[in-house]
Amino acid sequence: MHIVAFVTQKGGAGKSTLASNLAVAAHLAGERVFICDLDPLQSLVKWSRLRKAVDIPVEHIPAHKLELALHSLGRDGVTVAVIDTPGAHSEGSLRAVRVADFCIVPARPNILDIWASEETVATIKAARKDFAFLLNQCPPAQQSGRVARGAQVLQELGALLAPMISTRVDYQEAVLLGLGACELRPRGAAAREMATLWAGVKTRLEERERQRLDDRVIASNPVLASYREIFDQAARVGDLYTDFFRAMLPLAQQRPGRAAGDEEEEETVRPRRRS
Ligand SMILES: Nc1ncnc2c1ncn2[C@@H]1O[C@H](COP(=O)(O)OP(=O)(O)OP(=O)(O)O)[C@@H](O)[C@H]1O
Ligand SMILES: [Mg+2]
Repeated sequence: MHIVAFVTQKGGAGKSTLASNLAVAAHLAGERVFICDLDPLQSLVKWSRLRKAVDIPVEHIPAHKLELALHSLGRDGVTVAVIDTPGAHSEGSLRAVRVADFCIVPARPNILDIWASEETVATIKAARKDFAFLLNQCPPAQQSGRVARGAQVLQELGALLAPMISTRVDYQEAVLLGLGACELRPRGAAAREMATLWAGVKTRLEERERQRLDDRVIASNPVLASYREIFDQAARVGDLYTDFFRAMLPLAQQRPGRAAGDEEEEETVRPRRRS
């Protein structure tokens, strides 16, 4: 079973909207999906009450019962568990990060969401979990400078999932009916965004799964394990090397023979022209 968690401490970034829509897209692609709603406000439990079908079960799960609940979901044949978390630093979001195979961090293209993402990413990195940002509620003209800048900052902090999700009425209307955008208007732009998103997330989950299996094989073989140790060390040295040159770059870009601030000083001591 794959576990995908939507996490960010920033309220209103789109965790519940994207979690329900991704769950529907995965279900339509043939997965057996279960939604764990960790938010005390139970947004997705309410969403599922509006949904006539019982094809995507949703349950509010207290944070301390999450691991146990996931264990039994895996035994029952669920293939994808989607976790929605509260919009604040909480035990629920911490536990979700710890159990997830992949954390999705939604952020709107504004500086407050991006700052909040830094906090969330620190938590995810401390738990050594795989994650990516998902830019949400972008103006439909995707090439706006604000979106491009947001995407660039997030990409510097970590990977950015494709596609960028636009602000679309379909997402808001689908929620009111207990649906996902893929069900509301299967040929609509929002439906296409969600189908593409699920395809990308699935590929990522499968890659990680393969990596985990490879890791297990390598760890069980002493020769391969020692080679891996050597390559890991080489990679760490490579990172240091890159960091060093990145730090040196501003110095290298200064004009030769001048220290920073020289120019300013020169300006202030330049003799006045005689009239
Ligand atoms: N792509 C989108 N297009 C249009 N509206 C959106 C989109 N994403 C989210 N919204 C709207 O933004 C609001 C906040 O979204 P949502 O409730 O999913 O955020 P959240 O991160 O779950 O919030 P909280 O932290 O409070 O749980 C909702 O009204 C939702 O309908
Ligand atoms: Mg929510």
